[in-house]
Amino acid sequence: MAEPIPFSEALRERTRGVHQESEGAVFMQDLMSGKGSRDDYIALLAQHYFIYEALEEAAVGMADDPVAALFISPKLTRLPAIETDLEFLLGADWRDRIAPLPSTMRYTARIREVGAGWPGGFIAHHYTRYLGDLSGGQIIRTLLQRQYGFDTNGVGFYLFADIAKPKLFKDTYRSQLDAVQWTEEERDRVIGEVGLAFRFNTELFDDLATAKAAA
Ligand code: HEM
Repeated sequence: MAEPIPFSEALRERTRGVHQESEGAVFMQDLMSGKGSRDDYIALLAQHYFIYEALEEAAVGMADDPVAALFISPKLTRLPAIETDLEFLLGADWRDRIAPLPSTMRYTARIREVGAGWPGGFIAHHYTRYLGDLSGGQIIRTLLQRQYGFDTNGVGFYLFADIAKPKLFKDTYRSQLDAVQWTEEERDRVIGEVGLAFRFNTELFDDLATAKAAA
C-alpha cells in the first residue's frame, strides 16, 4: 500500500486553487506589477493591522493549549512591525486614520471565534498568514521595494529579524503539522478552515479594489 502523504503536503495540495485565486486578485497583481501605488500598499497594511491584532490576541489565548503552543513563536509576531510601518507611512496619528473594511471585520470575527476554543482552527489561520508571509511575502517585499522605492522603513511587516532561514523555519513548522495526532475528520476540518482563511484574503483584495475604485 502506498504511504499516505504527509498532512502538510495534503494541505498545500488541497489549497493550491484558493492560493492561486488569492495570488491572482487584480489588486495584488497591480500592486506587484507597479500598476498600483504606495497608497494601495498602505491600505493593505492598515487591514493587516486589524488581522494581526486578532491573530496575535488569539495566540495569547491559545498559549496554554499543548498543540497550538507548538506553533506559536515570538519570532513570528508582526503587530509591532506593522505599527512601526504605519507610523512611518501615515504619521503619529496613524491609528485614527485607519478602519477595518467589511471583509476584514468578517475575517477577524472568524479568527476570534476559532481562537476562543478551537486549536485546529486557530492553527489554520496561523499557518495561512505566517507561512504565507515567510513564502510569497518575501517576493512581495522585494517587488514593493523595487516598484515603490521602499528601503526597509514601511515594509518591516515582511522582515522577520529573528528568522534567519525562512526555509528551515517553514520545514520545521510543516513537520510539526505532520506530527499532530489529529483524526482524519479533524485534518479535513483544518484544511477547510485554511481554505476559508485564503478566501478571506481574496475578499480583502476585492474589497480594497472596490474601495479604490470608489475613491
Ligand atoms: C501576490 C500574492 C502572492 C504570491 C506571489 C505568493 C507566492 C507564494 C509562493 C512562491 C509560495 C511558495 C510555494 C512553495 O513553497 O511551494 C507561497 C506559499 C504560501 N503562500 Fe503565497 N503568495 C501570494 C499570496 C498569498 C496570500 C494572500 C496568502 C494567504 C494569506 C498566501 C499564503 C501562502 C501560504 C500559507 C504558503 C505556504 C504553503 C506551504 O508551504 O505550506 N499567499 N506563496
